[in-house]
Amino acid sequence: MKKIAVFASGSGSNFQALVDAAKANQLSAEIVLMVCDKPRAYAIERADKAGVPSLVISPKDFASKTDYEKEILQKLNESGVELIVLAGYMRLIGETLLSAYEGRIVNIHPSLLPSFAGKDAIGQAFQAKVKITGVTVHYVDEGMDTGPIIAQEAVKMDEHETRESLEAKIHQVEHLLYPRVIQKLCSTDRKV
Ligand code: GAR
Repeated sequence: MKKIAVFASGSGSNFQALVDAAKANQLSAEIVLMVCDKPRAYAIERADKAGVPSLVISPKDFASKTDYEKEILQKLNESGVELIVLAGYMRLIGETLLSAYEGRIVNIHPSLLPSFAGKDAIGQAFQAKVKITGVTVHYVDEGMDTGPIIAQEAVKMDEHETRESLEAKIHQVEHLLYPRVIQKLCSTDRKV
């Protein structure tokens, strides 16, 4: 069983989807840690409820990004984490974690990358009035939502779509796609 850590900054619904998949024996991975950079994030409550240990850690409490990530790295090592799963972690991964976990960090993004990278991808797609947007799972490199694509799923924008209805559709796709992709990564010997 692969040991994974999930990083989140907000609501943590994707973290929850992974927790639920693990509970339903649909994930051959053990979520050993939830890392959160926002002390008020709902993801922390979800972790408590699920019995997943959480590391709540704010970059503001460290002199540099390197120091911040070194602290995280130590906890990841202590927990034997083999794969880092970013799930709404709104921060660029720095050199310290990238080099320690080369090819073993994945992210989910609510658009068909390379379109609409960065913040509020759903809002960006909605404003652009595209007919199709979607969800991407990719390996993480030093860029913002760049890195080799692992999986994508399209979501159609309907004629009377609202920002809210689009967001709901995207999240629904994310919650199915992410556990499926993580399961695949954890059950094969490629990279992770
Ligand atoms: C998700 O839609 C995820 O794709 C997005 O943040 C949301 C987090 O929701 N991530 C990014 O935009 C990364 N660039 P959640 O906290 O409910 O899982």
